[in-house]
Amino acid sequence: MNALLNWDIPFDRMERLDLSGMEVQAVEKEGVRAWRLLFTQRPRDRAKAGPAVQGARPWPMEATEGLYRAEGLPPLALGEGRVRFGGLTLSLWGLPHLEALPLLRLLSDGVPYPLLALRFPLGAAHYYGLGERTGGLARRGGRFWNFTMDQPPRPGRDPLYLASPLLVRLEGDEALGLLLDESHPSLFDLGHAHPAEGRVAVASPHLDFYVLSGSLLEVVRGLTLLTGRPAMPPLWALGYHQCRYSYADSQAVREVVEAFKAHDLPLEAVWLDIHHMEGYKVFTLSPHRFPDFRALSEELAGEGVRLVPIVDPGVKVEEGYRVFEEGKRRGVFLLDDRDELLVGGVWPRRAVWPDFSREGPRAFWAEEVRRFAEENGFAGIWNDMNEPAVLELGGAESPDKALPLTARQGEKSHLEARNLYALGMAEATYQGLAALGRRPFILTRSGFPGIQRYAFVWTGDNESRHEDMALSVPMLLSLGLSGVPFAGADVGGFGQDATPELLLRWTWLGALYPFFRNHSALGTRRQEPYAFGEAWTSRMREALRFRYRLLPYLYSLAREAHEEGLPLWRPLFAYWPGEMAAFREDEFLLGEGLLAAPLLHQGEGVREVYLPPGTWWDFWAGCRVAGPALEQALGPLPLYLKEGAAIPLTEPTYPTRTARWPRLGFRVALGPAIRGRVYEDEGEGFAPGAWSELKGAFDGKRLVLAFEDRSGHPREGVWAEVLGVAPPVKGQGVLYREGRLLLDLGPGEAFAEWA
Ligand code: GLC
Repeated sequence: MNALLNWDIPFDRMERLDLSGMEVQAVEKEGVRAWRLLFTQRPRDRAKAGPAVQGARPWPMEATEGLYRAEGLPPLALGEGRVRFGGLTLSLWGLPHLEALPLLRLLSDGVPYPLLALRFPLGAAHYYGLGERTGGLARRGGRFWNFTMDQPPRPGRDPLYLASPLLVRLEGDEALGLLLDESHPSLFDLGHAHPAEGRVAVASPHLDFYVLSGSLLEVVRGLTLLTGRPAMPPLWALGYHQCRYSYADSQAVREVVEAFKAHDLPLEAVWLDIHHMEGYKVFTLSPHRFPDFRALSEELAGEGVRLVPIVDPGVKVEEGYRVFEEGKRRGVFLLDDRDELLVGGVWPRRAVWPDFSREGPRAFWAEEVRRFAEENGFAGIWNDMNEPAVLELGGAESPDKALPLTARQGEKSHLEARNLYALGMAEATYQGLAALGRRPFILTRSGFPGIQRYAFVWTGDNESRHEDMALSVPMLLSLGLSGVPFAGADVGGFGQDATPELLLRWTWLGALYPFFRNHSALGTRRQEPYAFGEAWTSRMREALRFRYRLLPYLYSLAREAHEEGLPLWRPLFAYWPGEMAAFREDEFLLGEGLLAAPLLHQGEGVREVYLPPGTWWDFWAGCRVAGPALEQALGPLPLYLKEGAAIPLTEPTYPTRTARWPRLGFRVALGPAIRGRVYEDEGEGFAPGAWSELKGAFDGKRLVLAFEDRSGHPREGVWAEVLGVAPPVKGQGVLYREGRLLLDLGPGEAFAEWA
C-alpha cells in the first residue's frame, strides 16, 4: 500500500530558504481577510491563483521593515528567516533539485527546489482539520498525506479518498486557519517526526499558503468563504436514502419501494449502483435489466421517490459507444507522457478518463450529465472512483490504484492535477444538473477544498462493525471543520454483514448525519431497515421518523452552512474551548443547541455523557441537568438541549414535498434568553426563501415567547413545547398535558406564569 508515497520526506537534507523570495499579500473576500504567503521559483507562477481559493482580492497593506499591517488583520512579521503571525512562527525550507527523489524528478523543469516545506513549533496548541481521516479528531502526533486514493477508512490508513491540505490550529479560544493552496501531493507532519515540530511539505515548485485568525467557527467561516460556500441542497437530499450494490433491475427497485411503503418507512431516493449500466458504460442503461426505465422513473416520481445513478469517470473503450467516440474526437481524455490515450482498467476492463482540469472536457461532461438526467428523470448524480481509481494498468495492478503521475492533463502533469480530479468532475456534473433548472444534488467520494461548492461527501467503503460506526463521528466532525458540512458514512456499513443491533444503532446515528444513506456491498446480507423482521422494523421506523421530525432544524442548519459555511456537526470545543480536557470525540453538537451522545458500542444500553457548563435539558424526558456534569444516559439516542435553545420540528410526513412546514413545533429549553429560527423555501429550485424567528425570555417565573413568521405561507399551527415544567398558574395560549407545556404561537405571542 501507499507505493507512491512510501518515501520519507528528507527534512534533514533540506536547506533553509531565505524569505526574500516570499511574497506577502493581504487578501479580502466578502469581509474575510487573510494573509497570503506565496513562494515561487518561476516567473510564470507569480500570477498563480487557486486551485482552492477563488475570488480573493488584494487588500491594502503597509510594509515597514518586515512588519506587515492591514486593516482587520493581526500584523504579520517577517524577519530573521521567519514569519510570525498570531502564535505561529514559520520557517521555509527546500530540497535542492540535485537531491530530488524519483517522484520529484517529475518536477524537473529546472526549479531549484522541487520539494518545499514549512516548519513551525507546535507549541501548546491543538490541531484539527485535514478533512477525511481515520484515527480521531486531534491531529497532533500524526502524519497526513494529501493524495487522493481509493483506500477504505480503516484505522491507521492514510491517505483516504479526499485530500484536504487545510489545518486548524486552536490555542485557548484563538484559532488559526492554515490553508496550503497547492494541489500537488503534500504531507502534514504534526509532531510525528519530531514531537515539538510541525512540518508541511509539498512536492511542488511553488508554495501558496493562507493564514487567517479568529474563533474556531470564525476560521471555518473564513475558510469556506475563501474556498467557496457549500451549495444549498434540495430538501430531499436531507431525507432518507436507500442504496445497495446493486438494485440491479427494475424489479429489484420496485420491490424496495414497495417494501418501504408496506412498512410505512420514509424513503426519498433509491440509488442505482454500477449494474444499471450496459457493460459498465457510463451514461447508459441496461436495456435487459431496465427495459422500461422511463416508465419506472415516472411511476416512482408519482410516489415522490427519486432515482440517483452512479456515474464513474472511467469511460469504456468501445467502438461505436458514443461517449467514448465523441470524447475521443473532442480530445477530452487524459494522455500518457507519449501523448497517447491513457488506457487502464476499472469496472470496464479498458477505460479512459476525461481530463476535468480543462474546460472543454468539463463542458462535454456537463452536457452528458444534463442529457442523461433529463432523459431518465434522475434527481441527482453519485460520483465514485473519482480519485480517480484505476484497478489495472498495462496488465498489472496499478500502484496505489492511481494513474501514472506522468500522465498529461493539459499543461499539467497528473502529479499536479490528481488531487483536483473529483473537484473538476463535480463542477462539470453540477453545471449539467443546474442546466435542468433544479438545485443540483451530487454525492462524491473524492474531493479537495472547494468540493463543498458542488457536492456532498460520503466516507467510502466502511464495514458493518461498531468500530466503523464510531469512527464516522470524528470523521464527519473533521470534514465539517475542513469546510465540508454535508457528509455521511454508509449506514449499516458497506462491507461485511450487518446485525440488526448494529443497523438499529447506526440508523439512529444516521438520523443525525448531514447525509443519511444506507448502503451495502455486493454479496453482503441485505440491510434495508425492514430486513430483520417486524420487531426490528418498528424500531428502525422510529429512528427514520425522528429524522423527518428534525427536517426543519436540519434544513435550517443546511441553510446556515450555505450562508455562513458553518458545519451542521460541531465539536463541543467550538463553544467551550476552555473545557478541552473534558472533550470526547463521541459527542457532538448538531447546530448550536442540540448535544448528541450516540450509543456506539455493541451491547451498550447506557453511556456516560459529558455536559459542558450551563444548563441542559434532556430532549426526551425533559429533565434538567446542571453542567458541567457526567450523566448516565439511556438509548436509543441521548440528546440534550442547551438552555435557551428552540429547535424547529415538524410532524413526520414523507416523502418530502416543499420546505414549508404548515405545522411547526419548536422544542424549547428554558433559559433567560430563548432563540430559535427556521428557514423555509420551496425546498428545490432557486426562488428566495425566508427565515422566521422565535424569541423569548424566562425570568424563573414568567415565560414569554414571540414568533415572527416571515414565510408568507399559511400555517395550520405553530407551537412551542416545553418539557419538564410544572403546570403554570396563568398564561395566554397555553395548554398543559402530561408534563408538557404547549404554547400556541399562531397569534404570534404567548406566555406562561408560575407562582
Ligand atoms: C466503490 C464504492 C461503493 C460502490 C462500489 C461499486 O467501492 O465506494 O460505494 O458500491 O464501488 O460501484
